[in-house]
Amino acid sequence: MSSQKIQAIRGMNDILPTQTPIWQHIETTIRQVLHSYAYQEIRLPLLEATELFNRTIGEVTDIVEKEMFSFTDRNGDRLSLRPEGTAGCVRAGIEQGLFYNQIQRLWYMGPMFRHERPQKGRYRQFHQIGAEAYGLAGPDIDAEIILMTARFWRQLGLNDLELQINSLGTAAARAAYREHLVNYFSDHHKQLDADSQRRLHTNPLRILDSKNPDMQTLIEGAPQLLEHLDEPSQTHFAMLKQLLDQAGVNYRVNPRLVRGLDYYNRTVFEWVTQKLGAQGTVCAGGRYDTLVEQIGGRATPAIGFAMGIERLVLLLDAEMPNNAPHIYLITVGDEGMQQGFRLAETLRDAIPKLRLLTHCGGGRFKSQFKRADKSGAKIALVLGEDEVAKQQVTVKYLREKQPQLSLAQSDLVHYLKENFFSDS
Ligand code: HAM
Repeated sequence: MSSQKIQAIRGMNDILPTQTPIWQHIETTIRQVLHSYAYQEIRLPLLEATELFNRTIGEVTDIVEKEMFSFTDRNGDRLSLRPEGTAGCVRAGIEQGLFYNQIQRLWYMGPMFRHERPQKGRYRQFHQIGAEAYGLAGPDIDAEIILMTARFWRQLGLNDLELQINSLGTAAARAAYREHLVNYFSDHHKQLDADSQRRLHTNPLRILDSKNPDMQTLIEGAPQLLEHLDEPSQTHFAMLKQLLDQAGVNYRVNPRLVRGLDYYNRTVFEWVTQKLGAQGTVCAGGRYDTLVEQIGGRATPAIGFAMGIERLVLLLDAEMPNNAPHIYLITVGDEGMQQGFRLAETLRDAIPKLRLLTHCGGGRFKSQFKRADKSGAKIALVLGEDEVAKQQVTVKYLREKQPQLSLAQSDLVHYLKENFFSDS
């Protein structure tokens, strides 16, 4: 048998115990805000038919063209690991009859997979929290969704994200605009880089998204979609801006915001940070009013967004909440171990918030204290021979200068509640 080490797949990260507290903090905070807007959780498969993503995200997008993890299973079916959550959510909604005469506000959380070139903030397995609202066509839900995202950042203490918004209008308005754009870029064909030349006839709107510095002047001179919007989309966008103004949410209209997935129409938005270089989009989404119908459901207006948890972790890393145990329990001998187990269970029953780490595996006092110190616990509880005989426990402070004290085991819950958990 080979003893060569097996490594994780490139771009797929282990999230270690030192990092999980910040993940949990983000997840709990966002979940609580989602619930305060009455969004309900939906859990969806990681694998779907490849066809689903081809037909929703779009055949000529980067994701479908080159980033999906796809394979043929034992039955000969083409499957893909989900690169995002919206397609599966729409598939499930249609299949389970969630959209039939109903308004749905749904959220989901979990890993997504894209075969991109890994770098800081960009991975092949990454995690999103997303939300989707179905059955509502007006700009009021667009505004509510954006307000909800603004609340996420307030709750997380992120105050330097910029909100960018744009309107993509209807498919028909985009088709007309597309012609203007193709004419414009065809007139400047020589100035286009290879990627953009390829996109000129497949997906010319994506040229506007190019990050190539040599193309920026050309792109700035291009006709703008906002000038070619259909009337109802213009009214929708104007109302959205008014609602955001009234709510005091700052935004910048970015006429070049087109998004990398094909299903969008009308409102699109992104929350962007300057701190993560090219991977600065923390949260992104928009309206996709024709998608449900396009893949076989009844016409259902929809809007949603997703945020990348890794990017939030990078932004919040410095303020890691402390998940160290409160208490480390040290015991000596068999009697001590047995009494300690009983005591630990009693404490956990009485104080549900308590994080109590028991020393398992025996050993000398000194080495147990070393472990207690390393655990980050505030206090050590000691059950030595003396304490066991007298049904007592010694409380030793590990982080502050405080005298150690002896208590009756029966008084311990009261003592801990008084001193550490007065709110539970
Ligand atoms: P997206 O813009 O492709 O949209 O992804 C949303 C967010 O996921 C990005 O803004 C970013 O924070 C994060 N993200 C994307 N790719 C990666 C990656 N390779 N590594 C780390 N983070 C990444 C969607 O996925 C749409 N489904 C959003 C949506 C929902 N639109 C409507 N409803």
